[in-house]
Amino acid sequence: MEQILIKPGAIQHISDHVPRAHSYAVIADSNVSKVLGSQVANVLPNAHLLEFPAGEPNKTRETWATITDAMLDRNLGRDTCVIAVGGGVTCDVAGFVAATYLRGVPVVQVPTSLLAMIDAAIGGKTGVDVAAGKNLVGAFHQPYAVVIDPLVLQTLPDAELSNGLAEAIKHGAIADAAYLQWIVESAASIFERRTDSLKKLISRSVEIKNSFVQDDRKEAGKRAALNFGHTIGHALEQVSGYAIAHGHAVGLGMLIEAEIGSALEITRADAVKQIYEALKAVRLPHTMVVDESGPLLEATRTDKKVREGKARYVLLEQVGAVATKAGEWTWEVPDDVVREALKQFSV
Ligand SMILES: NC(=O)c1ccc[n+]([C@@H]2O[C@H](COP(=O)([O-])OP(=O)(O)OC[C@H]3O[C@@H](n4cnc5c(N)ncnc54)[C@H](O)[C@@H]3O)[C@@H](O)[C@H]2O)c1
Ligand SMILES: [Zn+2]
Repeated sequence: MEQILIKPGAIQHISDHVPRAHSYAVIADSNVSKVLGSQVANVLPNAHLLEFPAGEPNKTRETWATITDAMLDRNLGRDTCVIAVGGGVTCDVAGFVAATYLRGVPVVQVPTSLLAMIDAAIGGKTGVDVAAGKNLVGAFHQPYAVVIDPLVLQTLPDAELSNGLAEAIKHGAIADAAYLQWIVESAASIFERRTDSLKKLISRSVEIKNSFVQDDRKEAGKRAALNFGHTIGHALEQVSGYAIAHGHAVGLGMLIEAEIGSALEITRADAVKQIYEALKAVRLPHTMVVDESGPLLEATRTDKKVREGKARYVLLEQVGAVATKAGEWTWEVPDDVVREALKQFSV
């Protein structure tokens, strides 16, 4: 297991948490590079700050190629360590660079968005988007360390904080009802960026994500629970041409998948309301603007979890627990049940 450090001010002491290397390739996007990227590069010996344009459309093989070419141009050898400083896009691209550069060099993840801190930087999945879909080309590459400095969230826009909070709600929904309740009660102080609240939020979410990843690094069984809300969520993102943010889509996905579970009498009925209240508290939408049930249903079939052409769903038993059957973590759901649940949240 990689070392995960959660500490206000940690970025200033990053050199205490990186492996010994001849040079450091600090990779950051154009929003994060100037301030946080430079801060990290300035305290490491022989650091090369490599910037790429911000945004999901740049999580591509082209960006990977540009960065690896730049590293080769600078004659960075096998004794190089990659430092990813940024949101999930940076963690994924820089992690993939590290996984492949000279057949693999170490990476230290320094996530700077909430989503990256509690999700993208943890678990060792790296990769890029391709024309056929998101995250379809990549590698598993465990980081040497993950260094989380909650103070960097001061500059993260509120909408991005909400996005990350969707995954925190998911952690509560699949593993810890009391944590979900705490998120609802602490939403105001989280948006105020109070350090104690941010620390608790990040720690508990990292703990939960880790507990699902630990025994299942290659995503065979238990890790699938982390996809709660994501079968519908990914379909929504896809149908919207990725105009809908991931957190927004996953929020709605959790609501609809709770409704599906409840219609099948697998999920306790109050789960829908609890998730609804949580989305409201963290300023995420709880209705879909258009009824996309036709194309949405189609889009669920292109999900990574498809088995024999059928979409698979993670269903809750109740908030705080995932429903399993005979060791299976995902369920097949009849189309009409999905259609009915989609309709309920369309306006
Ligand atoms: N590998 C995994 O296991 C995993 C898990 C979940 C998500 N992801 C990936 O993560 C990506 C989404 O991550 P994201 O939401 O962080 O997107 P992102 O990296 O695009 O960051 C969101 C925005 O916030 C900006 N930003 C980041 N930190 C900032 C800070 N401290 N101050 C100001 N601005 C800041 C970024 O520049 C960007 O504009 C997706 O590509 C998704 O596929 C990967
Ligand atoms: Zn997600």
